[in-house]
Amino acid sequence: MKSKSVEKIDSITNHPIKRLFGRRKGRPLRTGKRMLMETRLPTLRLALDETTRVPPQTFFDAPPAAPVWLEVGFGGGEHLAAQAKKNPAVCFIGCEPFINGVASLLNLIEEKKLTNIRIFDDDARRVLDSLEDASIERCFVLFADPWPKKRHADRRFIGPENLDRLSRVLKPNGLLRLASDHPSLVAWMRESLASHPDFVCTHAAQTPPDDWVPTRYQKKADAAGRPSFFMDYRRKEDATA
Ligand SMILES: C[S@@+](CC[C@H](N)C(=O)[O-])C[C@H]1O[C@@H](n2cnc3c(N)ncnc32)[C@H](O)[C@@H]1O
Repeated sequence: MKSKSVEKIDSITNHPIKRLFGRRKGRPLRTGKRMLMETRLPTLRLALDETTRVPPQTFFDAPPAAPVWLEVGFGGGEHLAAQAKKNPAVCFIGCEPFINGVASLLNLIEEKKLTNIRIFDDDARRVLDSLEDASIERCFVLFADPWPKKRHADRRFIGPENLDRLSRVLKPNGLLRLASDHPSLVAWMRESLASHPDFVCTHAAQTPPDDWVPTRYQKKADAAGRPSFFMDYRRKEDATA
């Protein structure tokens, strides 16, 4: 019998995709953002097949060697848009089920005239399961929902199943960048990564890595005087995932 929390079984991996927790909607969107959702999102949304795995460059009409970076839970999209502006030769995939965040990113894409972002307005696990092995150079999971209660720990994005997913899609030596201002989530993520055979830590500190780009939640934490913790992991060259 299928568990109540399982929404679908991935057709390729046979992995369960558990229900997505968290908000999908906030305040009603103003007219401008509503228009962007109606007109721009359909042109930028990833059309996933989900019965086959594809090279991510196909979503961009980019050459097979073009680097692709992926952000899980981009929130209002500030980090994703700033990275896309700074790195015009990189193709960016952003995943975020919260529609108000998606609308904010669309606004930034218009304002900054960005052409190198594609959006999946749903669960990032569905994107990860649809990409070819070793196809992503960098993956960002920044200020993920902390789910502080012990009984909700399996809702946290970083855990054994999603680390398997991330290891499979990251290129050898690919970067997994994590950050949080929530000490118990930081401890949980560090333990999860330490117990996974495929990753090696290259940065773990209260100071961000050199090429760090701020996020909205990081700024909120700074303003409230809560220190953030920044972690970089590399997928091992000889990982077997
Ligand atoms: C606390 S917010 C942080 C937003 C942003 N990264 C920042 O630092 O400002 C975490 C975000 O992750 C998103 N999220 C949670 N689970 C997700 C999943 N499975 N796939 C994609 N996004 C997810 C939530 O909707 C939420 O917007």
